[in-house]
This record gives sequence, structure tokens and C-alpha cells, in this order.
Amino acid sequence: MQRLQDRVAVITGAGSGIGLATARRFAEEGAKVVCVDLDEPTGAKAADEVGGLFVRADVTSEDDVVRMYQTAFDTYGSVDIAFNNAGISPPDDDSILETGLDAWRRVQEVNLTSVYLCCKHVIPYMRRQGKGSIVNTASFVAVMGSATSQISYTASKGGVLAMSRELGVQFAREGIRVNALCPGPVNTPLLQELFAKDPERAQRRLVHIPVGRFAEASEIAAAVAFLASDDASFITGAEFLVDGGISGA
Ligand code: NAI
Repeated sequence: MQRLQDRVAVITGAGSGIGLATARRFAEEGAKVVCVDLDEPTGAKAADEVGGLFVRADVTSEDDVVRMYQTAFDTYGSVDIAFNNAGISPPDDDSILETGLDAWRRVQEVNLTSVYLCCKHVIPYMRRQGKGSIVNTASFVAVMGSATSQISYTASKGGVLAMSRELGVQFAREGIRVNALCPGPVNTPLLQELFAKDPERAQRRLVHIPVGRFAEASEIAAAVAFLASDDASFITGAEFLVDGGISGA
């Protein structure tokens, strides 16, 4: 199936986990993929694998964000899909009583401000084209909170969800769809890092997942490809849960 034939897709955090799986899936579906990551070796490797372009960028830097879309446009002639996905996990003790202001600000910067910057700078391209699809990675915790203390992370993802909803409504008549992807726990380096610090956390999470396991990144990528494609032409401003049933349990 070539649902994304010749669409130009910019993916942030493409060097690892969900971003990497989505780069692979988009390429399989015919897209021209621009892999963006802070980490040069993994980002370049991903781009090489999918036959795309690598742009090293820090998504918290406005200059970098402007440059990555400009590079995509200059190389391929359009920017049709933006998957704003780069993010970091919560700091070690992320309870409201323990998280310091610096740690809080860092998480907002990488997880939320980056999405603001990406949307701000990609929408002008999509407006000129009269179409585009933006998928912003939030999380199931944006919808239901988390029993494990991760207040800065949950708040950042809540912001992504709210921003996506508003932008989805605001730009619907210009042919630009904006959706928030809300994955449940996914077996990626980000999750493995959290579990390495607190091994019991994996078991605590697992009991709340009705399907009885963590997602594979490829299962999330399948949902992103759907949202990015014309198959999702009537879906905008949505909170799109791919969570193995957690939020319904
Ligand atoms: P990951 O850690 O495997 O990949 C994240 C990628 O983002 C890395 O390649 C990293 O280098 C890149 N990155 C980090 N900061 C960056 C920056 N400032 N500029 C550019 N690139 C940067 O993580 P994973 O699990 O694939 O997560 C992707 C997104 O999904 C994140 O936003 C995360 O919060 C979200 N998410 C993950 C879940 C999970 O269980 N793994 C569940 C729900 C949401």
C-alpha cells in the first residue's frame, strides 16, 4: 500500500523508538522522509536506512526548527506531513513536591515548547499548499494522568494535547489536520530507561494494560501512518489513543 506516495514527511526524534519505527513505516508507504534528531549517529543511520535525508536539529531551538523545514522544502519541494515526536522522559523524582523548577522547565521545553515551535514553523508551508497533516506525540497520561509521579511529563503532554486540539479546529478549513497521538507504554529506549531506574515500575504498569503487554513501536507507527494519510481525512483535533485499552479500563 502506498498511501503516502511522494509525500514529504518531517519526523522529529527519528533516530530511536517511535520516530524510527515511523520513519520506516512512512518510507514503506512511499513517503520522502526527513529524519530529524539531536543525536547525529542514530539520526543519520535512520535516514540512511529509509533512503531519506538527515537533519541534525535541537527541537528546542527556533533557528534549528526553521532550518529543518526549510531544508526539507528546498530538497523535496513541499512539506506535507510533520510528525512532532521528539521528547524526553520525566526526571528521576517527578512528584510535585520534589521536581525542581529547572527540571520542570527542561521537560516543558523539550516536550511542549518544541511542538509549539514545530507547528508554528510548519503551518506556513502547509497553508501555502492548502493541505497538510500534523501529528503531535502526546501520551495516554495526558488523558488520564499517572499514578506514578511524573508531574512535569504529564503536564507537558497535556499541553501537547490541548494545543493539537485547538490547532486542529483553527486550521481545519485550510486543509490542515492536526491530531494528538496518545500512545500507551511502548517498548522503546525511553521506557527501558525508566524501568532500569525503577524495575518494579514495569510490573506496576503492566497490570493496568488490558492487552497484557507493552506496545511495539511499529504498532504506534501504523497509527501515525494512518493519521498522516488521506484515510484520516475527516479526523482532526482528535486525541488518538493507541494504548492497549488502558484508558478504557
Ligand atoms: P526515544 O528516547 O526512543 O526517542 C526519542 C528521540 O528523540 C531520540 O532519538 C532523541 O535523540 C530525540 N530527541 C530528544 N530530545 C531532542 C531534541 N531536543 N531535539 C531533537 N531530538 C531530540 O523515545 P520514544 O519512546 O520513541 O518517545 C518518542 C515520543 O513518544 C516522546 O515524545 C515520548 O514522550 C512519547 N511517548 C513515549 C511513550 C513510551 O512508552 N515510549 C509513551 C507515550 C508517549
